[in-house]
Amino acid sequence: MARKTPGKTTGALPIYVLNGPNLNLLGTREPEVYGRATLAEIGKAVAERAKTHGFSVTFRHSNHEGELIDWLQEARTMASGVILNAAGLSHTSVSLLDAARALDKPLIEVHLSNPYRREPYRRRSYISEAATGVICGLGATGYLLAIDALAGLLKD
Ligand code: DQA
Repeated sequence: MARKTPGKTTGALPIYVLNGPNLNLLGTREPEVYGRATLAEIGKAVAERAKTHGFSVTFRHSNHEGELIDWLQEARTMASGVILNAAGLSHTSVSLLDAARALDKPLIEVHLSNPYRREPYRRRSYISEAATGVICGLGATGYLLAIDALAGLLKD
């Protein structure tokens, strides 16, 4: 008899992948730090990877802190889990941390670069205090690993 696998149901909520300030410039912005993949290319690869796990993706970018907070609040009821690259706001925003804490669903924090190899002000991420896990320094691949990790957590 066919058994339903959690996360494989057609009714599974999407994974939200949220991207913060300046990530819309990927591809041309400091490529030696962030790589050459554009955000649109990452979004496409992420959706394909999620599909292999039976999930759809809601992929968004905003340069505005409040909009990211609104989306994290929306994710409380509309998402299975969240992948968040809050970019520079990771290092400054207590409000984004508060929204991440209120999520009550798995959240994977992603950074393309490895902030620990960079300026000291990047070594603290407020988001990490609420994240289920953190992936950094692996470029666009980090997003795909985050999808694998989140899908694994959601199937458990
Ligand atoms: C980043 C790292 C942040 O320190 C930086 O402000 C970004 C991108 C990353 O993906 O490596 O904008 O989040």
